[in-house]
Amino acid sequence: MITQLHEGNIEEILDLEKGSFIPQLQAEKSTILKRLGLGHSILGNYEGNDLVAMVSYLYTNFNPRDPSTFPKTHKDFSLQPIPENPNAVVIISLGIKPERRARGLAQELLKAVGEEAKKHGCLYGVADGRCPSYNGSPQEDIKQNPEFKNIIGQYLNKGIVPSQEDFLKDPLLAFYHRTSGCGFLDVIPDFFPEDEPSGGLRVILYKYLDKIISLSKEWSILARIMYGQEYIEQLADFLIQSGVETVLECGCGDGYISKGLAERGLKVTALDSDPEMVYLAFNNSVHPNVDYKLMNWLDLDKLAEKFDCVICRGNSISSVSSWGKEEEYNPNIARERIKKSIGVFFRRLKDNGMLYVDTTKESLDIDAIRKLGVDIAETGGGIEFEVKREDFHLKGKIEHDLARRTRRTYGRGTLEGEEFSVSSTSYLMTPGELEGIIRSHNPSEIWIPNLPHERYYHVICAMK
Ligand SMILES: C[S@@+](CC[C@H](N)C(=O)[O-])C[C@H]1O[C@@H](n2cnc3c(N)ncnc32)[C@H](O)[C@@H]1O
Repeated sequence: MITQLHEGNIEEILDLEKGSFIPQLQAEKSTILKRLGLGHSILGNYEGNDLVAMVSYLYTNFNPRDPSTFPKTHKDFSLQPIPENPNAVVIISLGIKPERRARGLAQELLKAVGEEAKKHGCLYGVADGRCPSYNGSPQEDIKQNPEFKNIIGQYLNKGIVPSQEDFLKDPLLAFYHRTSGCGFLDVIPDFFPEDEPSGGLRVILYKYLDKIISLSKEWSILARIMYGQEYIEQLADFLIQSGVETVLECGCGDGYISKGLAERGLKVTALDSDPEMVYLAFNNSVHPNVDYKLMNWLDLDKLAEKFDCVICRGNSISSVSSWGKEEEYNPNIARERIKKSIGVFFRRLKDNGMLYVDTTKESLDIDAIRKLGVDIAETGGGIEFEVKREDFHLKGKIEHDLARRTRRTYGRGTLEGEEFSVSSTSYLMTPGELEGIIRSHNPSEIWIPNLPHERYYHVICAMK
């Protein structure tokens, strides 16, 4: 039976703390009472009269796009006051009696917390994940994993971002992922110095609690409708025939294209700066040949590796400064960042490596797009479109304002019966402008590849 625990349950709570955590991680009575006094909650799971599992949590405001706003120490993290309109539930601790582990109790409790949190209007679940294989923990029968320690060290010292799979090398982080489906957002050093097995550091875990009806979720559905398998097939053939074996996809979105390339034998590193996109990719587009990283491509100089090909497609480069952050759109900043991005991409290429970038086509092949099941019509200054599927309906408009260099998309629709609206603004870049920026980096060759199944974008390739 799952039930809320109160001050009156304090002795049982303390017993379970002792039974489930190593001594340096056990919260003291005064701390637990302080947390309850702050309005934090504890859900307990009873077998008969026996408290066998419990989860402590609180509500807060959290911005997955800006992990720097996350508390810097476990003390600040676990003693947060509750704001008026929280958007996230924070899991402070999850304790299970050792002899009752591996019976789904953790999943049951986390599910109950998720339901509770949704009633409070929360969108995200967040937690600070331990990673005891960093130093090893004999008490927990966990060996040190030098590879994992090295990956975290490279991130903290050199900024080399771990892939989502890298985090799973730690058995406890892998357990958190298995039980909750969480992704990994950031690593905070010196978060909990007493946690020697984890090297004092913590990994921020995050999860979307509900159906996500946002720009990224909408894009993830649309990409599967808009890009036929023929395009992915053709793109993979083109790359393989060009001698490409390793690909870096910048702005990989939900991983639809990266996974398609990996399935055809290419080795892909796929990154995106939007936590929601990486979350969707990590959960929906997993393939052993793809490494997903939550990373801004403007930071790519921190990566040591070089690739046979860098791809930035789906008009991603034009959204460099504005994906999901319309209020921040400014054409001058966007233009500068696009120029910077092309430079960064070239530096990630091996000698004779190939850059593949696109921008919107100046005129669309309407008939070919209709064949993919997208109803589309060009109107003065824009494009109207409608997509209808069993569980998904979207009707919208794309407007081009060449003078202001602005491309604005907006639409309304329903996803599984729920209404939503979306809008996005990005830089409107002509193929000529993109070509000029690429040429300014003195490529040895520049050309437009023959990809008839690419219905939407004007692709330019260049050789380093
Ligand atoms: C229009 S979507 C395209 C996604 C995917 N490439 C496709 O073809 O479906 C643009 C993507 O670029 C990502 N993006 C924009 N600027 C970025 C940056 N500086 N670093 C990494 N990703 C970025 C966005 O988060 C978004 O997922």
